[in-house]
Amino acid sequence: MALITLNTLKKHRAENTRFSMVTAYDKCFASLASKAGIDALLVGDSLGMVIQGRSSTLPVTVDDVSYHTRCVASASSNCLIISDVPFLASATIQDAVNTARALVQAGANVIKIEGGSNLTKLIKLYRDQGVATCCHLGLTPQFVNQFGGYRVQGRTSEAAKHLIDAAVAIDQAGTDMILLECIPNHVTEEIMRVTTVPVVGIGAGPSANGQVLVMHDLIGITCGKTPRFVKNFMPQASSIQEAFELFDRAVKDGSFPASEHCFEE
Ligand code: KIV
Repeated sequence: MALITLNTLKKHRAENTRFSMVTAYDKCFASLASKAGIDALLVGDSLGMVIQGRSSTLPVTVDDVSYHTRCVASASSNCLIISDVPFLASATIQDAVNTARALVQAGANVIKIEGGSNLTKLIKLYRDQGVATCCHLGLTPQFVNQFGGYRVQGRTSEAAKHLIDAAVAIDQAGTDMILLECIPNHVTEEIMRVTTVPVVGIGAGPSANGQVLVMHDLIGITCGKTPRFVKNFMPQASSIQEAFELFDRAVKDGSFPASEHCFEE
C-alpha cells in the first residue's frame, strides 16, 4: 500500500473524494487500522480520557502524547500520523517550538492545534520551521471550561460566522488541514466552500472530505454516554480490523455519517 502523506489528503480535497482517520495510541491498533486501509491516525489527547481515565483532555502532557506517538509510529504503517498539541503546550513561542520538536521527533507528520483565528501566528511560526499543522475548530475540548461543557458549536448565525471567518483566516495563514468537531452540517458546507485545504470532521456532517472517530467508539467500547455522532461498527464485523474496514468503506462511499449522526441547527 502506498504511503499516505499530506499530498494524498490534498489530492482528496482537490478531487472531492473522501479519506478516513481514526485515533490510535499504540502499535497494535495502528497496524490494524493501516491494514484496514485507514488513511490517517490521530494520536489525540483523547488519550487522557480513553487510556488514562481522566475526565477531560486537560491533564495530558507533551510527554504523554510523545510516548503514544512513538508507540503508533513503531507500527511503521502507511498512515499519516497526526499528534495533538496538549493544553497550553504552545502558549509561548518557546513552548510551541519545544512541543513541535518533541512530537515530530516522536514520529508525527502533522501536529494538531486547537483554537480559532487566534492560531494564525502559530501556524506561520510552524510553517517557517517546516512543521505541518492541522487546526481543530468547533468543539475544541481544551476550551471545555470556557464553553461550560461539551456543547455543539456554531449553532447561532453569529457563532457560525465566527467559525467560518476563523476557517478562512487559518487557511490563508497556511495551515495544512482543518479538523471540525461538533458543528452543524450547513456550517461545514460553508467552510468547505471558503477553504482550500483538506477538512476532516467528527460530528460535523457528511460535507467534510474526511471523517475521524475515536477508535474506542468505532469498536463499541465507549466508556459512559455515546455521543450522537458515533457509530459502533463492531456489530457488523467479525474482527476489529473488519470494523476499521467497514468504517473506511462507509466514509469513502458516503454512507457515514448518516443524518442520525449529524447536528442540524
Ligand atoms: O483528541 C482527539 O482524539 C480528538 C478527536 C476527538 C478529533 O481531537
